[in-house]
Amino acid sequence: MTATHSLPTKKAIITGAASGIGYATAKLFIEKGFKVGLIDADSQGLEDISKDFKQTGAECYYRSVDVSDEVLLKKAIDELTSRLQGLDVLFSNAGINGTWAPIETLSTAEWDQTINTNLRSTFLCTKFAIPYMKESGGSIIITSSINGTRIFNNFGASAYSASKAGQVAFTKMAALELARYNIRVNAICPGAIDTAINEKTTYSDELKEIEIKVEFPEGDRPLKNETGTSEQVAQSVLFLATDASANISGTELYVDGAESLL
Ligand code: NAI
Repeated sequence: MTATHSLPTKKAIITGAASGIGYATAKLFIEKGFKVGLIDADSQGLEDISKDFKQTGAECYYRSVDVSDEVLLKKAIDELTSRLQGLDVLFSNAGINGTWAPIETLSTAEWDQTINTNLRSTFLCTKFAIPYMKESGGSIIITSSINGTRIFNNFGASAYSASKAGQVAFTKMAALELARYNIRVNAICPGAIDTAINEKTTYSDELKEIEIKVEFPEGDRPLKNETGTSEQVAQSVLFLATDASANISGTELYVDGAESLL
């Protein structure tokens, strides 16, 4: 007979949890028995999904805040950690494409909004999670992208790509700094994933002035020629969240069907 060992319940905070990759990850974590704290700016979305999650018997709490707001984010992380009675996993995932425009016409406010939502929030989430993870260790997973790390052909996405490249550099610095506390820090870099993110992108009329024609091979994506799904990304996040990846820190995991290698 095989002995059964019950593993301690993991406690995870997920940002951008009301949609796409964050939602799929929250759902998978719950299926795996995690307790979850959900953060998103979309309060109605959070209310609806946490109602659904709770109906399945899951332990789930949420706070609706803008992840770039230092004061509100700290309060949310403190309160959620208190409700969860600890913190093992932080998934810093909330992000926007923002405005895609030529650098010459991209406003400073548009630049700041993208950088603050994507990069500043990653710094803030990590900073506020450290005190709770210091004693027993933990795993921090950051959603970067193929944009800004392997591909640079989304013209007009200078702020977005800079934020995503910055997240990878931050991942590596944090991995080294936090290794002494047994806190692992890794980034996932999804390729094109079918979520709502593109609908929320502002495309400037001047984009055509800076575009360079890119010749893609016929047939698009190397693996299966299909757009990736949030559920596939969530499986990678789960791997990085658990002891299955115990010796992995400071690395990027590309979840893109090899599209960024073309
Ligand atoms: P999504 O738009 O479906 O979900 C993003 C969630 O973040 C939304 O629920 C939104 O309300 C929330 N959010 C946005 N700004 C926020 C703020 N200031 N404060 C709190 N919550 C905020 O998008 P998706 O695709 O799930 O994106 C998640 C992450 O994945 C982002 O960091 C994105 O850059 C990254 N990513 C997405 C790819 C894709 O093709 N969908 C590819 C590569 C990376």
